[in-house]
Amino acid sequence: MAQQRKQPKSGERKGSLPVVYVLNGPNLNMLGLREPTIYGKETLADVEKLCRAAGSRLGLAIDFRQSNHEGELVDWIQEARSKAAGIVINAGAYTHTSVAMLDALNAAEKPVVEVHLSNIFRRESFRHHSYISLAAKGVICGFGPKGYVLALEALAETI
Ligand code: DQA
Repeated sequence: MAQQRKQPKSGERKGSLPVVYVLNGPNLNMLGLREPTIYGKETLADVEKLCRAAGSRLGLAIDFRQSNHEGELVDWIQEARSKAAGIVINAGAYTHTSVAMLDALNAAEKPVVEVHLSNIFRRESFRHHSYISLAAKGVICGFGPKGYVLALEALAETI
């Protein structure tokens, strides 16, 4: 029997397009300035542009946000439960510390792709553990801003 494609609910669409929240955690507003040998010279605005171009190509409406505050990120993940069809998240350092964000992602019941610009497994051992991964369908790390595009491509197939 042919499998029925699950359609996002109307609250998860913008116009006719499924909405994807692209959430960025602490210090990602400093991209371009911050440790360029690790994170590169592209800014968060450059990353946003890449995501918007990928969204147009893939038929996804991109809601791109950054916050340095854990509670605000939790609020946005809760909001995504009714307003988004999927989530791409680079939680920055909260990746390695935040049970609150993990709980919110589990409660959101949406497909989640975790992204990191750097290869966290080639770095300090405290970066090797991610709470976020327990809620993620997949993880992409080490490909710089291109990782966000890969994450959106993976989500587009899932949504
Ligand atoms: C990061 C990796 C984290 O360990 C770090 O705290 C960040 C950025 C990345 O994109 O490579 O802030 O998530």
